[in-house]
Amino acid sequence: MTFKPAKWPRKLRSAEWYSGSTKDVIYHRGWMKNQGYPDDLFDGRPVIGILNTWSDMTPCNGHLRELAEKVKAGIWEAGGFPLEVPVFSASENTFRPTAMMFRNLAALSIEEQIRGQPMDGCVLMVGCDKTTPSLLMAAASCDLPSIVVTGGPMLNGWFQGERVGAGTHLWRFSEAVKAGEMTQEEFLSAESAVTRSSGTCNTMGTASSMASMAEALGMALSGNAAIPAVDSRRRVMAQLSGRRIVQMVKDDLKPSDILTRAAFENAIRCNGAVGGSTNTVVHMLAIAGRVGIDITLDDWDRCGRDIATILNLQPSGKYLMEEFFYAGGLPVVLKRLAEAGKLHKDALTVSGETIWDEIKEAVNGNEDVIRPVDKPLTEKGGIAVLKGNLAPKGAILKPSAASPELMQHRGRAVVFEDIDDYKARIEDDDLDIDETCIMVLKNCGPKGYPGMAEVGNMGLPPKVLKKGITDMIRISDARMSGTAYGTVILHTSPEAAAGGPLAVVQSGDMIEVDVENRRLHLDISDAELADRLSNWQPRHETAASGYAWLHQAHVEGADTGADLDFLKGCRGAPVGKDSH
Ligand code: FES
Repeated sequence: MTFKPAKWPRKLRSAEWYSGSTKDVIYHRGWMKNQGYPDDLFDGRPVIGILNTWSDMTPCNGHLRELAEKVKAGIWEAGGFPLEVPVFSASENTFRPTAMMFRNLAALSIEEQIRGQPMDGCVLMVGCDKTTPSLLMAAASCDLPSIVVTGGPMLNGWFQGERVGAGTHLWRFSEAVKAGEMTQEEFLSAESAVTRSSGTCNTMGTASSMASMAEALGMALSGNAAIPAVDSRRRVMAQLSGRRIVQMVKDDLKPSDILTRAAFENAIRCNGAVGGSTNTVVHMLAIAGRVGIDITLDDWDRCGRDIATILNLQPSGKYLMEEFFYAGGLPVVLKRLAEAGKLHKDALTVSGETIWDEIKEAVNGNEDVIRPVDKPLTEKGGIAVLKGNLAPKGAILKPSAASPELMQHRGRAVVFEDIDDYKARIEDDDLDIDETCIMVLKNCGPKGYPGMAEVGNMGLPPKVLKKGITDMIRISDARMSGTAYGTVILHTSPEAAAGGPLAVVQSGDMIEVDVENRRLHLDISDAELADRLSNWQPRHETAASGYAWLHQAHVEGADTGADLDFLKGCRGAPVGKDSH
């Protein structure tokens, strides 16, 4: 794609606040000077908002405050004026009921922080799972020049001589304790070994997947995704990004120039190649919705169908993000896709160059970490979108994390009406379940939970685990942690709380799963299904007030990104009325 830079110098948006001699300008500019800024910083140079999701309560982003200093250094060097702005930061591991419920609230609040303040461009400092999509959604809706800087992953975890991944081994060890293969004391001593440095989860979990999506979309500088948080090159990347955003403002290179259909198709294919998180589906649909690009679940299936997972990273494979970086990082994966004819090479990036220009010199440093296309980890690694009478609007499955022998299966449903029902019964030895059954969990979707929690990879019953069985088919309207694994069918739409067919599945029903043919079928007659649906009564509670009410009243289905219906689309960032 050819991008024609705007003429420079020209009057910028921030001049509406800082340029001139009116009472209002003196009020805006003068008060800023109480921080010790000299006159010449208000001379029409680009004002860059560093939108920082640093928070002591978001441990994965705990180092972003220091990293922001390097971004600032780059902005100063390039002749910009950096102003750091703390923004809503939803930590994946502490926010309740689930960080996902607050992704849209964060995007809404950040959009208004951008629109209401004198920024000409934005640096999006993100890391933990929801922080990346929420800032990208906000930036897409405002359409000011923006660049992503992620905090980078943690260093490898090691425990008892084994490489252990953040998240992935939490699930694995927890199941091992239930199966009697690990003691509780060992589990506790593994705690600190798994998360031993600053940074985001070191697996190809949602944070690493969304960092990869940002880079594949062209919204971050090439190579950004994999650099470990504590590697000095992470700080170099931050500084270079600071320099770059100033030029992007001068050129007027905006998200709408970069976030094209071609960019989204590149990112979807990249997600398959890296064995990315299922969460990227719902986030990318929401980001596309903000720029008015009509990406659907069918696009996910179409673009991912012939993509092999070539990255050998946990949870699908063996290694961790640190080794991905040493092997060359995402540019190597993107180059492999391009060489296979599966990348739109002319997609524009924040550098002002095409994605091909950015990756064509990439060299693979370890062919066991980034496999050749003819020796992949999983031949069909793209997200599979299943449809049928159980999921008329679709449900998704990550083949690279699933068991091949379960990809075609007919099993008896064991239904849990909600997560509390699951917790109350799963450890009961009298539960009528074996490994051939299909576990069904309802009321955990965007409206139902509320917030669509990461509970779709519900643990197996202990009596099955004790037989040495490690996987069963699970179906829900929930999400799954990107660090998790298993034959887990997620995001079933419409969700149970919205009266989707999932709501009327009963224990004892037979369910057919056929991933190759993309089929998810509840084996009851159409008349029986219609009868059950006509008698269905909502079970989930509806919040009476507050943000939970707003969320439940306006959240859309997972099949379109679970955004709030009134936030879709790009509203731009015009200068509003001055109130003084
Ligand atoms: Fe924050 Fe994994 S929990 S990145």
